[in-house]
Amino acid sequence: MDQETILTYFLQKLKDVNNKKESENVDTKVLKIDQVHPDTGIIKEAAEVIKSGGTVVFPTETVYGLGASAFSGKACRKIFEAKERPPDNPLIVHISDLSELEKVAVDVPEDLIPVLEKIWPGPITILFRKSRNVPDEVTAGLETVAVRMPANPVALMLIKESGVPIAAPSANIATRPSIVDSSEALSELTGRVDMILDAGKTFFGIESTIIDVRKRPPELLRPGAFDVEDLEQYFGAILIGDTARGLKEAELAITPGMKYRHYSPEKRMYVVSDRSLFMKIMESDAALQLTAICSKELASQISGRCISLGSEKDLYEIASNLFQSFRKLDATGKKIGIIQDFPEKGIGIAIMNRIRKASAGNIEAIENLESILSQNDLKNHN
Ligand code: TXA
Ligand code: MG
Repeated sequence: MDQETILTYFLQKLKDVNNKKESENVDTKVLKIDQVHPDTGIIKEAAEVIKSGGTVVFPTETVYGLGASAFSGKACRKIFEAKERPPDNPLIVHISDLSELEKVAVDVPEDLIPVLEKIWPGPITILFRKSRNVPDEVTAGLETVAVRMPANPVALMLIKESGVPIAAPSANIATRPSIVDSSEALSELTGRVDMILDAGKTFFGIESTIIDVRKRPPELLRPGAFDVEDLEQYFGAILIGDTARGLKEAELAITPGMKYRHYSPEKRMYVVSDRSLFMKIMESDAALQLTAICSKELASQISGRCISLGSEKDLYEIASNLFQSFRKLDATGKKIGIIQDFPEKGIGIAIMNRIRKASAGNIEAIENLESILSQNDLKNHN
């Protein structure tokens, strides 16, 4: 390495350290709030933070969001800093009433309005052409803006009281699993945001579905809590590509976030589809290096070392426990997790998308325990 390269390297390192210090230097106020009957005084206090250009972590019906005024580029830059999110990954804009849509989007087709009235509030995000009110920080310079109306009283009241739409990605630090419980928000974001609304566990525990209805047929960009089959009642057949299933990484994805490592536990995770192979691998793990992440039905056939996702008869339950199971895997002393697969029907499409992304494609070539243990990049993931 020449001297200039070395110098550039160290200057960048110094900058990273300083940036990190800055983003961890915020005085975070934590307020407990009831998700069903929110205290209006607390909502007012949180809205003041949004109005004055600050950041608030708040519950939605899907996962926690890290919000700021969608009309302030400066406020939104704080979101990217707090989350360590690459600036080319745009944010979802949250509204509390259909009348706010025209402030953030243009060219909304007339015949879409009655559909929006039916599906919002709810866990479905839709792409529109953006209005000039929305700063480039929010859309990462794209011509489109992703919008949704969350079905959570705290989120809706906060947006209304703030008087502005709220831009909010999932509240987790970039690449980490999304935050579904306030305890995770407190440990991950204290010192990084101005306020955390501590409301316990979110309802779905998996993010919203994202679709592009400007296309014919409409395209699923990210499967999520809103069942695609239910959406087809409103939009007709929806195209579900390999990227949305988590089978292919998007090089130049319409949804820029798709190209980044996502939802990942720090430990290595493998998807094992075959049930008897799953049990055989666990049984042959004499050195107890593995943790299984599986349904309670499969767990009952394996002795110990399982993180249960709930009953496979209820995929909503599985979805709501998924991100927490990744965090629990990291908290075990084990080196590796193996996770079962689920049928790709309804919310199962979203579950498999998250599992495939979190396991970074470790799906094929898993024939036995030896093939898992012999993966040579394992040491990087202990
Ligand atoms: O349930 C949810 O959607 C949660 C809650 C907080 O609302 N939010 C959430 O945001 O999951 P985030 O930022 O973690 O994921 C949003 C995804 C990203 O992959 C981003 O690239 C994509 O939406 N996105 C945002 N704006 C877009 C746009 N204009 N065009 C295409 N994709 C967009
Ligand atoms: Mg996210």
